[in-house]
Amino acid sequence: MRRRVIAGNWKMYKTLTDTRAFFSSFLPLVAGAKPCDMVVAPPFTAISTAVEAVKGSSIAIAGQNVSWSQEGAFTGEVSAPMLAEAGCRYVIIGHSERRQLFRETDDNVAKKTLMALASGLTPIVCLGETQEDRDAGLTEEVLSRQFSGGPCALTPEEFSRILMAYEPVWAIGTGRTATPEIAAAAHRFLRRCAGEKFSIRHASALRILYGGSVKPDNIRGLMAQEELDGALVGGASLDPESFAALVNFA
Ligand code: 13P
Repeated sequence: MRRRVIAGNWKMYKTLTDTRAFFSSFLPLVAGAKPCDMVVAPPFTAISTAVEAVKGSSIAIAGQNVSWSQEGAFTGEVSAPMLAEAGCRYVIIGHSERRQLFRETDDNVAKKTLMALASGLTPIVCLGETQEDRDAGLTEEVLSRQFSGGPCALTPEEFSRILMAYEPVWAIGTGRTATPEIAAAAHRFLRRCAGEKFSIRHASALRILYGGSVKPDNIRGLMAQEELDGALVGGASLDPESFAALVNFA
């Protein structure tokens, strides 16, 4: 049985004051229950504040991105050792917003994943097709290419330490969730890729989160699919009540 993960990706939202206010409302709502692994990815500036706020709870903090270099003259970048030192345990890599708006390639994703693993962080590697890809019947081809260009570069041992997130671009921030069946089919395909490249054992242990307009009113249908091992949540993770509802459901 794979343990579920509910991860919130705050994107470029929340100041330090907002971060403190979020956790002071959120923590009592999820106290006691340990229904799943909980992860929150605040913006870089709020990481230390978030780490401080969740001390003593089972909530883990994540970076939203990481450099592919350990250190160097890379203005604006943040390295994996820096995230680990700040108290992060996870990092999101290859989010579609990074791929689309900041031209991140599969090769960047592979390098960042290695760097994160070397610092003891758990990478959450994101993959997903655009609306055009889906309309052209290219979903599996795109997922296969992103898988081959990214996680395939890992050794089996490294692969066993990552999470993946299937995030169809057309479902992100649009209010258009993939149907549970569409999401499950994509997850099944990714698991097959993992089985072919690594082993059946690796494939069945791999946790794949679904992301794209996950809300308290659609989590039940999504989580009814055995293939879905949790959710990577944008908008609904910004509000303590709705994020707690997702965590408590899972
Ligand atoms: P929304 O939940 O706002 O659609 O965002 C999904 C996402 O991009 C999580 O990483």
